[in-house]
Amino acid sequence: MLIDFTGEVVVVSGGGAGIGRALVERFAAENATVVALDVTFTDPLPDHIVSLTCDVTDPASVHAAIDEVTERFGRIDVLINNAGINVEGAVEDLEPSRWKASFDVNVFGVFLLSQAVIPIMKKARRGRIINAASFAAIIPSVGAAAYGASKAAVVQFTRVLASELGPWGITVNAYAPGMVPTGMNGFAELPQPAQSRLLDTLSLRRWERPEDIADLLCFLASDAAGYITGTLVDVSGGKFATQMPHRAYETSTP
Ligand code: NAI
Repeated sequence: MLIDFTGEVVVVSGGGAGIGRALVERFAAENATVVALDVTFTDPLPDHIVSLTCDVTDPASVHAAIDEVTERFGRIDVLINNAGINVEGAVEDLEPSRWKASFDVNVFGVFLLSQAVIPIMKKARRGRIINAASFAAIIPSVGAAAYGASKAAVVQFTRVLASELGPWGITVNAYAPGMVPTGMNGFAELPQPAQSRLLDTLSLRRWERPEDIADLLCFLASDAAGYITGTLVDVSGGKFATQMPHRAYETSTP
């Protein structure tokens, strides 16, 4: 089978909580050696997953973490740049420091970690860099200028890096989740009418599960995806598919 991570080292930023936590658990279940990087591990990960404290916005912290991984394991096969923060607010009211924080974590962090693993992957002449973007990179929402612009930057960064690393057989891709209830957004705690309004924007009309993303990322990280690079993969449940997907639910009974 082409999907087998035995002997491979997978590094996941923001692996302590939310989607990242599900990713580290899934890659470990698929036999990879998994390293989770996070600023904090409120809920400790199982012992077979290596947890390293790392702030992706701090070059010294990023280099210390990647050095430790290479010293312990001698390789990095897959980097998943999952760490991210959601900064909301109308442009007129947004604190400049909040705008900066959005770009520090969501863009600068992706740059720093990618830059740190490039020499390791080049030496091996293989590797996968997979970056968390969002549907917000493409679809604008009121109050999401900082977040949306930062995720759009991730998409363009992904394309450029893919072209730079193609000669070494390293692929670089981004993915666009839709709406996964996590600590970042509290979707599942919203009043029911607000939840319905959000779900009405999805062709599949259910909250996304972290496992939906893990399924895609196992594929993108595998040999089966060796000819896919520089792209944004939609894993949003149909957020981009059509303008008013709820009409299908009003007019048909599955
Ligand atoms: P979350 O808030 O549940 O988890 C994010 C993790 O990143 C946390 O463990 C946090 O401690 C860590 N983190 C934050 N700043 C960090 C830093 N400076 N250094 C290291 N780690 C840091 O968020 P969630 O929902 O799991 O999101 C994960 C990624 O998926 C993010 O990039 C987010 O933008 C993206 N995404 C999430 C969606 C959703 O619906 N939850 C939708 C689209 C994209």
